[in-house]
Amino acid sequence: MHAMKSTTTSPSVAWRYSTPAIVLHWVLAALIVFMAALGWWMMTVEHEPGGEQWIALHKSIGLIVFTLVLLRLLWRLFHKPAPLPAGLPRWQVLLSHATQVLMYGVMVVLPFTGTLGSAYSRLGLAFFGLPLHLVAAPDRPTAKQFFELHETLVWVLVALVVLHVLGGLKHLLVDKDEVFSRMWRARS
Ligand code: HEM
Ligand code: HEM
Repeated sequence: MHAMKSTTTSPSVAWRYSTPAIVLHWVLAALIVFMAALGWWMMTVEHEPGGEQWIALHKSIGLIVFTLVLLRLLWRLFHKPAPLPAGLPRWQVLLSHATQVLMYGVMVVLPFTGTLGSAYSRLGLAFFGLPLHLVAAPDRPTAKQFFELHETLVWVLVALVVLHVLGGLKHLLVDKDEVFSRMWRARS
């Protein structure tokens, strides 16, 4: 059995994340890593024949990621997770919460900048071939500004995720507490 002592005040209070929160966490983690790899790779084949298809794929999957992030955020606003184990040092609680809030912020703004940059770009925005006309006309300097922000935010997210994963692994392998399993399986 897992240690219940410090996380709950009554047996009916859930100490794990809910199943939708867990599924969305891991599906989005995989999709975001995939999107970053695809983003960097497509930039290396951008000017080769067929290169535009990879950019189109990045946009289409990116719009799915964007939707899932908004769903996840909505779910999170109405489902507060149980408190962390009581014995954790205060700086670790603050650091993990700050990292998580910032990750949510970047997870929203990153696809947003990609979407708007694409809308203003020469190739335009499309979802698996379906054109989405968000703006009246392409505007290269505006598109460029959004893409510069997009590129910077990817690195901010990489830094946050590295910190986050190190924290998660510390709980799993060093502390050996229930923090990792909160986000792992819905049933014991
Ligand atoms: C979590 C989601 C996303 C991640 C991790 C991601 C990641 C990346 C990366 C790593 C690059 C290459 C940056 C560079 O080195 O210049 C890139 C470029 C790009 N992304 Fe995304 N992206 C995401 C979402 C989106 C979305 C939703 C769209 C549009 C619907 C989009 C459109 C683009 C475009 C058009 C480029 C090329 C920019 C250029 O030509 O300079 N991205 N993305
Ligand atoms: C792109 C990758 C990832 C992103 C963007 C991400 C994002 C997040 C966010 C925003 C939360 C807060 C959930 C909430 O309270 O609403 C969270 C929780 C969590 N994540 Fe990740 N995550 C990623 C990958 C990982 C990986 C690889 C691990 C494995 C170590 C992990 C382990 C955890 C754990 C254990 C929690 C629960 C922490 C707690 O109870 O406070 N995550 N993640």
